[in-house]
Amino acid sequence: MNKKIIIDCDPGIDDAFALLYAFKEPSIDIELITTVSGNVSVDKTTANAIGMVNMAKQDIRVVRGARRPLVDNPRFADNIHGVSGLGTYTFEGIDLQSHEHDDVVRELYEAIMNSEEKITLVPIGPFTNIARLLLLHPEVKDKIEAISIMGGGIKGGNYNMAAEFNVVVDPEAAAVMFNSGIPIIMAGLDVTEKALLYPAQLEEIAKIPTIGAFLEEIVKSNPRPQRGDSLLQLNDVLAIMVLTHPEIFTIEDLYVDVELYGSVSRGWTLADQRRYDRHPINTKVMTDLDYTKFSELLMERLHRYE
Ligand code: BDR
Ligand code: CA
Repeated sequence: MNKKIIIDCDPGIDDAFALLYAFKEPSIDIELITTVSGNVSVDKTTANAIGMVNMAKQDIRVVRGARRPLVDNPRFADNIHGVSGLGTYTFEGIDLQSHEHDDVVRELYEAIMNSEEKITLVPIGPFTNIARLLLLHPEVKDKIEAISIMGGGIKGGNYNMAAEFNVVVDPEAAAVMFNSGIPIIMAGLDVTEKALLYPAQLEEIAKIPTIGAFLEEIVKSNPRPQRGDSLLQLNDVLAIMVLTHPEIFTIEDLYVDVELYGSVSRGWTLADQRRYDRHPINTKVMTDLDYTKFSELLMERLHRYE
């Protein structure tokens, strides 16, 4: 039976790869897409998500979510993802007027409670929408199979030495989620820094009808400096891929919590790696991947647009 998921995203260049990959994964059904303030403002992330749903001819509802984190002021990553969130690419003619009054918590609640099977949440942006849902409607927990996230890093961050972007933008929301009792699957930087896209792969992707030119433009206009000879880190893809292909990854069962008060470590996802007196495990932490299998699967799914 197909896995039913809801993707909560902030597209974002790597979110774009994750969405287009997920649309072509035959063993998952995407029930809903929600958006959040993150890489760019929520209006931009919403327009980007709608643009991609249309481009890929998908029949999936997109609901606009939180404008800002629970406590902190919004912080964006347009220095990395470009002003639109997708490098120099902008989807024309997306009308957000009908999304003005979107109620993301209600929409998530109804999608989860009305589903016969349990739902897996896949948040690949800051965790504001997820935390608001869990705080307002804790009864949804029984209907959520797992939360597969891109976020954090038990060895450290990218936003600063301690914290990863999706966590540091809304640390309180991340703490609510990690402490919810729902099993977490964590594609943090420990594994995502290994999910790199190289020029030869992009050359092949660029030739794919429907999505090739789009993906080529957003990667090439990514203002982030290159790391080695790679073009991009495909962080968000892994939160989807692990659901159907866990055998590609090395996964450790650990207890993870979020540092909220550290003067230099606010937003750090700290894992208990002691061998004694441990907290109960709440997270499957992905630490490594089989790069060849990851790359083959990614390319195979993207080629399904042909
Ligand atoms: C995460 O932050 C965002 O910039 C990316 O889209 C990804 O979800 C990586 O730290
Ligand atoms: Ca993201």
